[in-house]
Order: sequence, then structure tokens, then C-alpha cells
Amino acid sequence: MFAEKYSDEIQAILSKYPPEQRRAAVMPLIYLAQREQMYVTKQAMVEIAEILGISSTDVASIVGFYTLYYDKVGSTYRVQVCTDLPCALRGAEQFLEGLCNNLGIRVGETTPDGAVMVEAVMCLAACDKAPMFQVQSGDGLSYHENQTVESAASLVAELRRKAQSKRRDGHGR
Ligand code: FES
Repeated sequence: MFAEKYSDEIQAILSKYPPEQRRAAVMPLIYLAQREQMYVTKQAMVEIAEILGISSTDVASIVGFYTLYYDKVGSTYRVQVCTDLPCALRGAEQFLEGLCNNLGIRVGETTPDGAVMVEAVMCLAACDKAPMFQVQSGDGLSYHENQTVESAASLVAELRRKAQSKRRDGHGR
């Protein structure tokens, strides 16, 4: 149970908001719920809704809206490449295609070991540093700017090694 397992962290998050604005804690609570498995379970959405006094549909719609949140089991790491117009003008689409070709997957797919999913997203606020992407995992976010297919592929290889050792140690997927 999410609320029970993370009660201290939940209280710490709630304490940052005045009681009448508790619902504003929905985003950090979703992020907390996602940390362990890299997706938010239906049960966690229900519990978050109960904690905040909102409907679980409200929570689900926020999970569905933001590219940082997932409601299905996925990869250990998510590589999110910005292909929005300014980045596209700096070759982001060719970069994304080149990276996926290098990994033998298509955009939106996961490497066969379940370690890394590569997807296209909208602006990540580094428009003059394309090709760029962010890597999302249970450990947080990291940004990678002015990339080449080779530099990105080498980072992905490292992520796959890390995912393997996490699995060996019994953490993450
Ligand atoms: S358009 Fe890609 S980071 Fe802004």
C-alpha cells in the first residue's frame, strides 16, 4: 500500500502546502508513487485521491497528461528526446531515428532487455542545445544536451548495464 509504505515522505510533502491547498500536492505525490516501479499503479492513484480529497479520475488525468508520468509497466530508464520544432530544426528527428536504428528499436519501443525505452516528447526547455534528451528513472531526471547518436548510444549502453545490475541486486525492473 502506497500510503502506508511512504507515510513519512507523504507527510513531508503535505507539510509544504496549507491545508486548504492540499490538492496542489498531487504532482509530487504521483512522482513519489512512480519512483519505485517507474509507473503509477491504479491502487496508488486511488490512495493519492483519498489523501487529497479529490477523485481518482482527477489523479489519472494528470498521470495521463504529463510525459513524466506513466500508468503502465515500462522500462527501467526512459530516454525522452525532444523533437519539437526548434529542436527539429537542429536535426532532432534524424538524431532520434539514428539512435533508434543503433539500438534496433523503433520510436516508443523498449530495448529487448526491458532496460531503456526511447520516445519523442515536446519542448524540454533546452531548445538551442538540440539534439537533446532527458533520462527519467526512479533515481530522478538527468539532461543530456548537444548530443550525437554515438554519445547517446554510449550512454544507453551504460544505462543498460546499470539496469542489469539493479535487477541483479533486486531493485527496479
Ligand atoms: S523545442 Fe526542444 S527543448 Fe525546446
